[in-house]
Amino acid sequence: MTYSASGAATTPPMGWNSWNAFSCSVTEDDVRDAADLLVGTGLRDIGYEYLVVDDCWMEAELGEDGQLEPDSEDFPSGIDTLANDVHEKGLKFGIYSSAGDVTCQGYAASLGHERTHAEQFADWGVDYLKYDNCGDHRGRDAISRYAAMGQALAAVDRDIVYSVCEWGQNQPWQWGRNVGAHLWRTTGDIVVRWSTDSDEFGLGIVDIIDQMNDPDIAYQNGPGGWNDPDMLQVGNGPESGQAQHEVADIDRELTAAEERTHFSFWCLFSAPLMAGNDLAEMDDATREILTNEAAIAVNQDPLGIQGTRDGAVENKEVWSKRLAGGECAVILFNRGERTAEIATTVETVDVPVDAERYSVSDVWSGDEWTTSGSITATVGTHDVAMFRVSPE
Ligand code: GLA
Repeated sequence: MTYSASGAATTPPMGWNSWNAFSCSVTEDDVRDAADLLVGTGLRDIGYEYLVVDDCWMEAELGEDGQLEPDSEDFPSGIDTLANDVHEKGLKFGIYSSAGDVTCQGYAASLGHERTHAEQFADWGVDYLKYDNCGDHRGRDAISRYAAMGQALAAVDRDIVYSVCEWGQNQPWQWGRNVGAHLWRTTGDIVVRWSTDSDEFGLGIVDIIDQMNDPDIAYQNGPGGWNDPDMLQVGNGPESGQAQHEVADIDRELTAAEERTHFSFWCLFSAPLMAGNDLAEMDDATREILTNEAAIAVNQDPLGIQGTRDGAVENKEVWSKRLAGGECAVILFNRGERTAEIATTVETVDVPVDAERYSVSDVWSGDEWTTSGSITATVGTHDVAMFRVSPE
């Protein structure tokens, strides 16, 4: 099979996706507003470059020649015009389909029509395809269905980032690169919760963090091929008009500390950073998390390593990620319900041990200090301390 050599996604893709905030009610005006807001809020300039329209942009049936047709009421201008408008804002444009006969919301999808649809995407100026797993699969396995679209995208004359959304059901980290994918969902749908019970829809933040810390998954991550623990829920707390949860009918509850933990781990994991909040409602606290340059620098580190857990004592956990140039990112994570002191040393985390001193900078407070080896912090419940550690 093809390995995408286009040089796309050499660092984790960053952008914004319509699903978490707008769900199935998204319109082309929402997309244009999001483009303006990505520019106006500074998110574009800090790296959030892909604007992706998720499910429900298309008609329920394919056209006469098997082509996808934009919903005539919600997307009347056509996708080429909309993509052009988004490009004019200095952004890239992404779209959605499914490797089945319909999408998750029952609209027309791409199984059996991959060539036609890939050509449509290229003609429209699409830069990114999120390819879901809903609909009837007509007896075909995941690798065959995702390879068909990967081959179709490789055959068109346009670089299109290929985002496989198969929910981790068939270990896509093992075959994602081989079908031409640049990223693949490792896990089920994220919801605005710390954790969920098995009988509830979706996964909470800590559920996903735990599923990602599997060596079979973690060691597959790297430039051009990313494990995707799903889009960000930062800024989608109980006060927001978050549409996905109205569809799923579940409560939303994430504290400020839990949102910070969510973003910190997605950066430590080298995960794609796809914001999912309503940008028109974004408050300062959300903006400060999404635009934290020190955290984003950890996320975008050129080595593209997925950080892993180095150790845990009861609810106190130490995680780290090797960075380029012998540096390292460290998370001290308090999983418990009470504030705790968490301590580690340079021998535990992923940094060369032969330096006499290390400089430490706090990703969230900006404080800096030096140490000969120990790294400690007082960490609130469900919160993190996150550091960049550099041998001097
Ligand atoms: C699935 C995907 C979500 C979203 C919805 C849209 O649940 O996992 O990310 O795209 O479909 O219907």
